[in-house]
Amino acid sequence: MKILGYESSCDETGVAIVCTEKGLLGHALHSQIAMHQHYGGVVPELASRDHIRRALPLTREVLEQTGLSLSDIDAVAYTAGPGLAGALLVGASVARSLAWALDLPAIPVHHLEGHLLSPLLAEPRPDFPFVALLVSGGHTQLMRVDGVGQYELLGETLDDAAGEAFDKSAKLMGLGYPGGPALSNMAQKGNADAVVLPRPMLHSKDLDFSFSGLKTAVLLKMKELKVKYNDEVPEEQLANLAAGTEAAIVDVLAAKAIRALKETGLKRLVVAGGVGANLPLRNRLLTQAAKLKAEVFFPPVALCTDNGAMIAFAAAMRANAGLLPENLKNPSFTVRPRWELSEAGALY
Ligand code: KG4
Ligand code: ZN
Repeated sequence: MKILGYESSCDETGVAIVCTEKGLLGHALHSQIAMHQHYGGVVPELASRDHIRRALPLTREVLEQTGLSLSDIDAVAYTAGPGLAGALLVGASVARSLAWALDLPAIPVHHLEGHLLSPLLAEPRPDFPFVALLVSGGHTQLMRVDGVGQYELLGETLDDAAGEAFDKSAKLMGLGYPGGPALSNMAQKGNADAVVLPRPMLHSKDLDFSFSGLKTAVLLKMKELKVKYNDEVPEEQLANLAAGTEAAIVDVLAAKAIRALKETGLKRLVVAGGVGANLPLRNRLLTQAAKLKAEVFFPPVALCTDNGAMIAFAAAMRANAGLLPENLKNPSFTVRPRWELSEAGALY
């Protein structure tokens, strides 16, 4: 079965085709970063309008790439949430209209399930069960994953997400958007020990996170630097602050992920979501997990941030697991801007 998948929950339009037997056949992506950069963050209405412009050209691109035509497609999947309501509605409308016109089933997919299963797009594929560290712009969660659709929340952020901590800190430092890669690049030029920032909840005996205190610490440090240098903070100082911020985020994420492995006794850790592209985080997890004789799995770097491949793939995994109901041709649909992963199968 060949599934055409759409992702449009935030600032990336992604389209892909995944075969339930052969895996990913092709994918195309348009990032809106350049458009939103000017505003320092995602402007939802602009995001929606751009998804409209990109959805069909990207569909043609994927069909060309794979040498397939619409008549070869067996189902259409789309991100139904969580995300920006208008942006989600664009992908959902395109996917649902195509499915209706071609008389195909339409499969609503939970965005985080897409991220969570995306490491299975790479080789070697982790077997179930595993611990998943889901770190994106909107979510920071540790899950126990026993199979497709079997997700148990172990811990999550009480306030900001890890990606948000990167993005907001970068903004405070004037490093632009998206903040994760910008801050991480700047951090490479700095010394992480020069500015020691708080590691919120590092020693709490649970698997929860908190990042808003770190953001406040960065704000106060920036104010201090601006006063000291008369608003012209030298790059060396910014680089040290960026390195200190990244080190604090990586320390907390790694410590909690390792704690989750110890508490569950599982030997496989899967890392997914945009922050999973962060190299210091990847290296730290690999070193620390090795001490527990545990393996760490990542999605291909290009599929860490939002993309259509993970959405078509999650639908394919549900199809292979026999988790798709019969009534997927019902023409009415909705999207869920807020949606718990534990209810990922609830939109059929
Ligand atoms: O998963 P994603 O593409 O979108 C959401 O579903 O939120 O994640 C985007 C987040 C942003 O906060 C971005 O700054 C962060 O992932 N990110 C990174 C890196 N690349 C993307 N954070 C740290 N280091 C990176 N290399
Ligand atoms: Zn995402």
